[in-house]
Amino acid sequence: MPTPAADVLVLGSGVAGLTAAAHAARQGRTAIVLTKAEFDDSATSWAQGGVAAALEEDRDSPDLHLADTITAGAHLCDVDAVRVLVTEGPERIRDLIGSGARFDQLGPVLATTREGGHSVARVIHAGGDATGAEIQRALAATTRDLGIEIRERWRVTDLLVEGGRCVGVRALDAAGAPRQVRAGHTVVATGGAGQCFAVTTNPPVATGDGIAMALRAGVAVADLEFMQFHPTALDAPTTPRVLLSEALRGEGAILRDDDGVAFMLEEHPLGDLAPRDVVARAITRRCNERGLDHLWLDATAIPNFPDRFPTIWGHVRALGLDPTHDFLPVAPAAHYLSGGIATDLDGASNLAGLWACGEAACSGVHGANRLASNSLLDGLVFGSRIVEAIVAGRDGPTQTGVMRGIAPWAPGPVGRPDVGGTTDRAEFQRVLTRDAGVLRERASLERASVALGSMRARTLEDANLLDVGRALVHAALAREESRGTHTRLDHPDRDHAFDGRFVFGRDGAPAFVPLPATADLETGA
Ligand code: SIN
Repeated sequence: MPTPAADVLVLGSGVAGLTAAAHAARQGRTAIVLTKAEFDDSATSWAQGGVAAALEEDRDSPDLHLADTITAGAHLCDVDAVRVLVTEGPERIRDLIGSGARFDQLGPVLATTREGGHSVARVIHAGGDATGAEIQRALAATTRDLGIEIRERWRVTDLLVEGGRCVGVRALDAAGAPRQVRAGHTVVATGGAGQCFAVTTNPPVATGDGIAMALRAGVAVADLEFMQFHPTALDAPTTPRVLLSEALRGEGAILRDDDGVAFMLEEHPLGDLAPRDVVARAITRRCNERGLDHLWLDATAIPNFPDRFPTIWGHVRALGLDPTHDFLPVAPAAHYLSGGIATDLDGASNLAGLWACGEAACSGVHGANRLASNSLLDGLVFGSRIVEAIVAGRDGPTQTGVMRGIAPWAPGPVGRPDVGGTTDRAEFQRVLTRDAGVLRERASLERASVALGSMRARTLEDANLLDVGRALVHAALAREESRGTHTRLDHPDRDHAFDGRFVFGRDGAPAFVPLPATADLETGA
């Protein structure tokens, strides 16, 4: 076997990838990070609200955080994975602070806020609403201090598989030349696929590259029907949409309809701080019933708006809006993919040598609807666990977490991206937005399936989006119930027959894998 170029090859430079790379370097392993844009171009940098963790023992606990996560996840979370997240999360945050990240303080303690679905204020933040940027800054500084090799503008095309294990990737280097990068272990941390949709809060880099590579290689991928729509993206014609953080509602902003009526308490006991799927559905339904494009966010009661939310303030002022006087037009936008490459509790995929973390992964912590501000925590926790497992000598998955019930990778061809067609990205974004958005039904999904089936992408990234989009529609058709972020108008209720995951593998059709019988779905006990 040729000598690996690195012990650990990390694809992606957001919180999950940089956590894994830094941890590997600290453990004496060589690490290379490939990133397709500039080092800082990740969804992490854009994260506003914060990081959720039970840091204050007198009024919060990992058990309470676990219960909130499972409720928001519509009882499709993997309870063991959530327990890992909520118990290890606080320590990973302390590590991050130890390595230089600065979170906002309220006197001597960390300032916290509430977001949708949280029963207590446990979301810490930085720079008011620039939490992701601060985490990215701190991790980037660590990565540079550790001398980790970063290759910018390298685009991965497919997995290298030899002898039944992943040995690296094929990629196009910064000059566009085809290259192979070999490694002992490959960590996919390429983020989500919000760019499947015409209306998204995600940066342009969110094109599902890692998930698409896994799908083409027959690696297990799960829960793709659960694209989370953020309820309050600013309805202004910017691409991507400006996010109006849930933390605004945590600090007193309220949703109003076109008559000025605050309606969320009619929808859910938590009112404006209901889980995100509930709020997105409520807005979409009202808009559809009344023929509107948007409703309104009234943030006029927030004191010190410019100081508390400087990023949002800058964005809305640039568009001529003044949130201290104006209601802000809001509508849902694709925000976070809860599914991805299926992993065990240590981030191992079902292909030996291949690991996944962050939004590219389906570790089971998000279930059918990610709890607000759990994603940065997810990257910190599982990015670290992958390296611990590698250092401990692990090379393949265990039957833990989401991996329970998923068979090992079946040898077979590793598909290449299908490029060279004429389809514009806008064409399939329109289809997915119209037919597989917040509200879906069999007829719309079948229409989407036919339309996407006849498209052929021009570029590598569009081919990746099409692969993910087709699988998303396929899974959404198979799940004939409504749960979390997946709302089927023709199957409006949750159905326990679907207590499980749709998992793509070698044959391209999603197989249903029931949740383990031991988990108490309703209580998480
Ligand atoms: C937000 O600030 O509302 C987004 C936070 C998240 O997506 O978790």
